[in-house]
Amino acid sequence: MCNTPNQIQPQTQPRTQTQCRTVTAPDPDTTARLAARLGRALVGGDLILLHGPVGAGKSHFARALIQARLADLGRYEDVPSPTFTLVQIYDLGGVDLWHADLYRLTDPHECLELGLDHAFESAICLIEWPDRLGEYAPKTAVSLHIRPGDQEDTRHLEFCASTERGHDILTALCDGDVT
Ligand SMILES: Nc1ncnc2c1ncn2[C@@H]1O[C@H](COP(=O)(O)OP(=O)(O)O)[C@@H](O)[C@H]1O
Ligand SMILES: [Mg+2]
Repeated sequence: MCNTPNQIQPQTQPRTQTQCRTVTAPDPDTTARLAARLGRALVGGDLILLHGPVGAGKSHFARALIQARLADLGRYEDVPSPTFTLVQIYDLGGVDLWHADLYRLTDPHECLELGLDHAFESAICLIEWPDRLGEYAPKTAVSLHIRPGDQEDTRHLEFCASTERGHDILTALCDGDVT
């Protein structure tokens, strides 16, 4: 499903090499299946930074991930985009999941008022517009860049990680066929 791991030589000195995997999703359902697979690999303290332009599919990805975890618990909930609330928190039975859309954050310090720094330590966090975090963006994150493709419903999803834990998440994501 994923391409061959792509080793990128880091410019600074992170704890381990950056690995990236890319997947092309020809339709929203493929993106949703990918999100569900990623979601099932996540535990408290894991963080996914969702990059991409407006309409790329960041909220679609987050919604599918959250609803897959809820479905595993026999639950269904609406998952609204946190455009105005900034943060939506879901109880996944033993671990919280924070879904944030930081587009409207005007200063990185505001993420402390939201409690995001504590959430990064214990919750599963999905963050849209993570550039708004500035210096508060944890280095342990898995980054997902969603880029529109040639066709209206095509998206290229690139996952990158620079830690052992992040590499494990990429392996879990790519271990199988969802396309
Ligand atoms: N392959 C795809 N993957 C994800 N979303 C897609 C895809 N093709 C079309 N879409 C659509 O693109 C839109 C993305 O909206 P949304 O997730 O709110 O974007 P963002 O949060 O990045 O601004 C949704 O309507 C979704 O159905
Ligand atoms: Mg969104």
